[in-house]
Amino acid sequence: MQLQAQNKSRINFDKGWKFKLDSVQSYSEPAIDDGNWRTLNLPHDWSIEGPFSKDNPATPGGGALPGGIGWYRKAFTVPFTEKNKIVFISFDGVYMNSEVWINGHSLGIRPSGYISFQYDLTSYLKYGNAKNIIAVKADNSKQPNSRWYSGSGIYRNVWLTTVDKVHVDQWGTFITTPRVSSKSATINIFTNIQNQSSAKKHIIVNTILFDAANRQVGKASSNSIIAGAGGANSKPPAVEQSLVISNPSLWSIEKPVLYKAVTQLLIDSKIVDTYETPFGIRYFNFDVNKGFFLNGEPVKILGVCDHHDLGALGSAINTRALQRQLEILKAMGCNGIRTSHNPPAPELLDLCDRMGFIVMDEAFDMWAKQKNPYDYHLYWKEWHQRDLQDQVVRDRNHPSVFIWSVGNEIGEQWGDAAKGDTSGRVIARELVSIVKSLDTTREIVTANNEVNTYNNIIQSGAFDLIGYNYNHQIWEQFHDRWPGKKMIVTESTSALETRGYYDHVPFDTIRRWPERWDIPFKNPNGSYTVSAYDNISTPWGSTHEESIKALLKSDHVSGMYIWTGFDYMGEPTPYSWPARSSYFGIIDLAGFPKDVYYLYQSIFTKKTVLHIYPHWNWTRGDTVDIVAYYNNADGVELYLNGKSLGVKSKSANDLHVVWHVAFSPGTLKAVSRKNGKIILTHEVKTAGEAARLILKADRKLINADGKDLSFITVTVVDKDGVIVPGADNLIHLKISGEGFIAGVDSGDPVSHELFKADEHTAMNGLALAILQSNGRKGKIMLTASADGLRSSNVLIEAK
Ligand code: GAL
Repeated sequence: MQLQAQNKSRINFDKGWKFKLDSVQSYSEPAIDDGNWRTLNLPHDWSIEGPFSKDNPATPGGGALPGGIGWYRKAFTVPFTEKNKIVFISFDGVYMNSEVWINGHSLGIRPSGYISFQYDLTSYLKYGNAKNIIAVKADNSKQPNSRWYSGSGIYRNVWLTTVDKVHVDQWGTFITTPRVSSKSATINIFTNIQNQSSAKKHIIVNTILFDAANRQVGKASSNSIIAGAGGANSKPPAVEQSLVISNPSLWSIEKPVLYKAVTQLLIDSKIVDTYETPFGIRYFNFDVNKGFFLNGEPVKILGVCDHHDLGALGSAINTRALQRQLEILKAMGCNGIRTSHNPPAPELLDLCDRMGFIVMDEAFDMWAKQKNPYDYHLYWKEWHQRDLQDQVVRDRNHPSVFIWSVGNEIGEQWGDAAKGDTSGRVIARELVSIVKSLDTTREIVTANNEVNTYNNIIQSGAFDLIGYNYNHQIWEQFHDRWPGKKMIVTESTSALETRGYYDHVPFDTIRRWPERWDIPFKNPNGSYTVSAYDNISTPWGSTHEESIKALLKSDHVSGMYIWTGFDYMGEPTPYSWPARSSYFGIIDLAGFPKDVYYLYQSIFTKKTVLHIYPHWNWTRGDTVDIVAYYNNADGVELYLNGKSLGVKSKSANDLHVVWHVAFSPGTLKAVSRKNGKIILTHEVKTAGEAARLILKADRKLINADGKDLSFITVTVVDKDGVIVPGADNLIHLKISGEGFIAGVDSGDPVSHELFKADEHTAMNGLALAILQSNGRKGKIMLTASADGLRSSNVLIEAK
């Protein structure tokens, strides 16, 4: 069956906007001459263009990049043939305090920087050759308004949707699967329809279900009569349909199978709207004693918390950049994402649906009590209900979403009931009832760093699933405090590492940095670094091993979301300026894994792993701890220049083995064996002087769509190809052909170099260049050079 979207068009509206940064003047009037403004394509984040300064009002905690007020304008025409249609403009997210005008008419404001919203343009449009002008103001001038880097501007996609007057509402379907087994699944479909015409309409609503191979597996047909706009019953209840599918393919982490529901609205046998909803069929439960089950099977959730920035690309969303992050996480054994602490880009959830992640979809970082002077608490009263409703309605068809989080470390946890402050209980109940009025198929949590029983939010009684942030020492005793409740660790760990940097402190010496969160931390290494041995965490957190052990110990702990998967801009704990991005990531800001990545891989994947670290460039007389993460073997033997340093094996609870080795230059070789048979070997060599560069692209073939990316790793190596551990050469990049450099980085939290540049200093031997298609087909050549080193190039094709 050929389904055509005859009457609907949803076009991407990202191309060819005009942009100007100006905190003084208004540019909402259509007549304004924007001819000399900068032309750009969305998504766009002006903050990431820099420069860094400790004086930027965002503060280092917000990434130390500029804010301000940005104006975007776009001219477009609408043909006369569309005159009887309804035209919407949809923004997936604008940071923040946006106002949108069409032809000088204000369509509305939206304070939240993370929520998606749309406006109906129809009554203000001009048709034919006349130009329509959309103007958007994004106001990120009042800072600090965030505890992390937010980015600024229209940083997510924009869409223009043209529909018949009778159409499926925005986010107008809701699909649930109330009964699922391997034999059959009941699919309930609720469809909200709008009739914006003046006449009553008799509508046939067809819902056709397709499986992953696009085979039709079900069809329902219903009648609906909807009064004309403004008339009684012009906003009727959703049309309800139910279908049964036999032998459904269930959505799981390993096989995230997707179905598709196609809704057709027919009037007088003519299709007036077609609307597609991808969905998945799965069942799950959180058990008080046994944790999380997906489709009847126990699953430990090994999730990560991530903020929304994409490193050098800033917060400007790019689907390939998100996909790369998820690929790197999946290969580490991660199976969950927490959208800390705000509604994500829709593309993230689409990817999680397709790739198999357990998503905790989070709404707020604060309620009415502020964390920063200009944060969302200012808008709480007026907007929280609408924003939460919109998030749930937008996201509730995603099979990857399993948990709604209505708040992170909310100030209302505390409040003296004796003094009448029970707002935490009141708001908690209100938020839970908002979510439940729209979706009863998922768990609802808050992420609590106050785990004492006086926590008002938990005391509200509104939650069945209780979220703990940190406190790994007492996960095991959870039921002493909260008998009969289910448990998830909404946030854990907050360990700290600089990729590739190692203090000369024994591996088993655990330190908590900063010593206190409210006292500035010195700079003990003199370089604003944190050792990448897993032995430093925040005092409220734990090392990676500490939290993994606590996770694995107790069945009732459904899972944990580690703070964080990737480093992110802002919050440079334990430091402040000159540091400007985080040290929390298992993976650095550029996307290069730190050593602990392999710790997770060795425990949470089936892949055979043997990873030893650190590097082998030390001074004679040093004794260095060599750590190995491994699996699928009885033990590991370490050799230095051919001489065995002994076999080490993990005993019951160990997650690593370690040797104390007196340094002498040469080759360290680790060999893992099972039953005497070699499983893997891993060598680390003493590097000589830096001699040349090696370039490696994650993808050599990209789409010539103007958006696709190739991530190119630049490695500084000696003459024999061994990475030079401390190399910090300035890498110059030259690009030719059908692409441009979208960003450069090294993962260094202290660098103040621009991300939008054609050079960058390597950190510990590595740098990254992100190439983007310019929309044309052809070759793209990147050449990297550095003073005194042999240069190198890589050829990418955009097709
Ligand atoms: C948590 C908080 C996160 C982040 C983290 C750093 O308390 O929820 O947003 O600030 O600490 O350790």
